[in-house]
Amino acid sequence: MLNRSRKVEFLYLQQEDCIKAGGLDMSGTLKATERSFFLHGKGDYILPAKPVIRWGGEDSEETIGRIMSMPSWLGGEKYRDELISKGLLGPVNTSGIKFIPSKPHNPAKYGLPRANAIIIILDPDTLMPVCILDGTLVSAMRTGAASGVAARYLANPGAKTMGLIGTGVQGRTQLMGVCAAVPSLEICKVYSPNPEHVKGMVEEMKGKVDAEVRAAESYEDAIAGSDIICTATMAKAPYVNPDWWKKGALHVETSFWDTPPSALKEVDVIVVDDWFQVKHHGADVAWRAVRDGFIKEEAIRGNLGDIIVGKIEGRRDEKERIVFNPIGMGIHDLSEAHRVFQNASQEGIGRTLPLWESPALCG
Ligand SMILES: NC(=O)c1ccc[n+]([C@@H]2O[C@H](COP(=O)([O-])OP(=O)(O)OC[C@H]3O[C@@H](n4cnc5c(N)ncnc54)[C@H](O)[C@@H]3O)[C@@H](O)[C@H]2O)c1
Repeated sequence: MLNRSRKVEFLYLQQEDCIKAGGLDMSGTLKATERSFFLHGKGDYILPAKPVIRWGGEDSEETIGRIMSMPSWLGGEKYRDELISKGLLGPVNTSGIKFIPSKPHNPAKYGLPRANAIIIILDPDTLMPVCILDGTLVSAMRTGAASGVAARYLANPGAKTMGLIGTGVQGRTQLMGVCAAVPSLEICKVYSPNPEHVKGMVEEMKGKVDAEVRAAESYEDAIAGSDIICTATMAKAPYVNPDWWKKGALHVETSFWDTPPSALKEVDVIVVDDWFQVKHHGADVAWRAVRDGFIKEEAIRGNLGDIIVGKIEGRRDEKERIVFNPIGMGIHDLSEAHRVFQNASQEGIGRTLPLWESPALCG
């Protein structure tokens, strides 16, 4: 005997709704993103290898584009008290998917973002959709937050200087994520080969983060002497010179082609977010350095989540040069989307849409 209506509705959140529900609040995104790293370290997740449509080899992602689908399940029930005591929001206990196409010509040709995304969150009992939301913002924010969490765990305490290469969407959230996670930061030097982009971003971000944001003159000027370096570009060829890394630097390589694979020989510690996913995608510099014989697979220390939960060691001394090379995990998107969805539900934000009034063909 059915005890409920068979109507199915979900909450629809366009990007403006996500913003009203705290989607640009980096302190919240940091909590949601660290929650997903923590549960990854605990093994309380399911993350299948992401299918990618590309119209060529790995490098065609930077020229033609790609379409990725990122399904995942994230738990947390078993760690409810620990999550709450760490300020990591609480359990997620559900599944969802981010569908994220990327077209590199969009910003210059149409003024549109390179990537757009849609996220679906499911009801854990029925597996019917409970929320469909813009994932463009969630995805950008969680990527910046992932670098922030990495900086929290892998940078030297008291880091003062950040060097940022990239003035696109991810460049902006890298700046927001690292500045919010590392309050000791005083200066961020920003570089891109297009001086107008640098000028625009420096103006835009002034006052939005606690550190002073200033234009760098060159790649070297941004990277040399920096405690934390973030590269988030659409570069098609490497430009990072490992001689520029100071002792003790943390370099977060979010994009793919900035650092030459040979440079990883000069690094003391290499950390990823999920080595299985990195290998499967096949484009990250950490994987290409192994594939091309510059380093052995054993040189990959492991996944950041395992460092966060204390399964493996992170930084051992202040002189180590560390590279963090994340591929990006669907559980970050699910965790952050769940945070935004919960806020929106509590505050009555968004529109309820029906999937159907009554399901056809089911008796
Ligand atoms: N690892 C992850 O989790 C993750 C998540 C999201 C995006 N990404 C990657 O981040 C990268 C950037 O994405 P985006 O959304 O900011 O793209 P975007 O198009 O908004 O911005 C890219 C920026 O790179 C700059 N650029 C291009 N060539 C450059 C070069 N040689 N040197 C310096 N700057 C250069 C462009 O001027 C532009 O400002 C992409 O490669 C994307 O795949 C990674």
